[in-house]
Amino acid sequence: MQSLEELSREIESIRQEIREGAAKFATPEAFYEFRKSFLDNKAGKIGHLMKEMRNVPKEDKAAYGKNVNVLRDWAQEHFKDMENAVRAKQLEMRYEREKIDVTEPAVRVEEGRLHPVTQVKNQLIDIFASMGFEVYEGTEIETDYYNFTALNTPQDHPARDMQDTFYLSPEFLLRTQTSAGQIHVMESKKPPIKIVSPGKVFRSDDDATHSPMFTQMEGLVVDKGITLCDLKGMLDVFVKRIFGEETSTRLRPSFFPFTEPSVEVDVSCFECGGKGCRLCKGTGWIEVLGAGVVNKKVLENCGIDSDEYSGFAFGLGLERIAMLKYGINNIKLLFESDLRFLKQIND
Ligand code: PHE
Repeated sequence: MQSLEELSREIESIRQEIREGAAKFATPEAFYEFRKSFLDNKAGKIGHLMKEMRNVPKEDKAAYGKNVNVLRDWAQEHFKDMENAVRAKQLEMRYEREKIDVTEPAVRVEEGRLHPVTQVKNQLIDIFASMGFEVYEGTEIETDYYNFTALNTPQDHPARDMQDTFYLSPEFLLRTQTSAGQIHVMESKKPPIKIVSPGKVFRSDDDATHSPMFTQMEGLVVDKGITLCDLKGMLDVFVKRIFGEETSTRLRPSFFPFTEPSVEVDVSCFECGGKGCRLCKGTGWIEVLGAGVVNKKVLENCGIDSDEYSGFAFGLGLERIAMLKYGINNIKLLFESDLRFLKQIND
């Protein structure tokens, strides 16, 4: 049985509890739990007081009920204010957490680049593609036949000494030149042929300008009436695009078993304009590639009628072009993967 006195004491203690609870809530969930512990019809403390009504003497019922109602109204008002405060605090914390200082310097994003040799390769492919060349990619493992014999370099030919070869077996080897691809293309395709073929080649050779693995790009054109003049004309366009408008080429006699005549191609020095400097060793010219008119025997080896068709071929070293273009004096820099070096080259 609840007396009105007991009730007012309990009401006071509930009010006290609610007031003190207000400061404590870090999360809205804790607040809602707290509120429920008073207002819930079944489990709440105020709800419980309501239920006590039946034990109150008749004459006190009216006063009792009124007092509990006043308490409930007060608590509801009070919780409304608390809820607002809890939400405001929550929002403030979120603002704080998600604050962005727009004046803070941005975190640097490291940007990757293509390797200098890949950059050169892509530039060359662009240039040759614009002249109508297709790209053919050969294989790094070749047979002796494709790398040498079909290129008019049979066993015991002295020209085999020009390239120190890594043999995998008497028959298989790591190709020493992308010229091996010429044979594959001519065997599988009828003229007109107009291809470039970039790829890795291997020779037992190692110093400041030579590496046991390096990259070449082969070029091959076969059609009716192709002459050395076509080669020269194409090379002039090529060097202007890669080394600058003011450059030109000159041809010097040379020897390759698979071309006849064979030439060494020089580009006029793009550093000094031909006057003579350190880059061109005072000569005004820089050697860039080997080339020539396709040897009739090579055409015949591939079943192409050498009376009807002729062609020219050229081969250039991509590391050498990269070294010239970017002023690199040691080929090793291109293979050491030192980012301090690689970051400087971005064409
Ligand atoms: N294959 C030759 C070399 O590696 C270059 C070359 C290619 C020369 C095509 C003439 C024609 O030295």
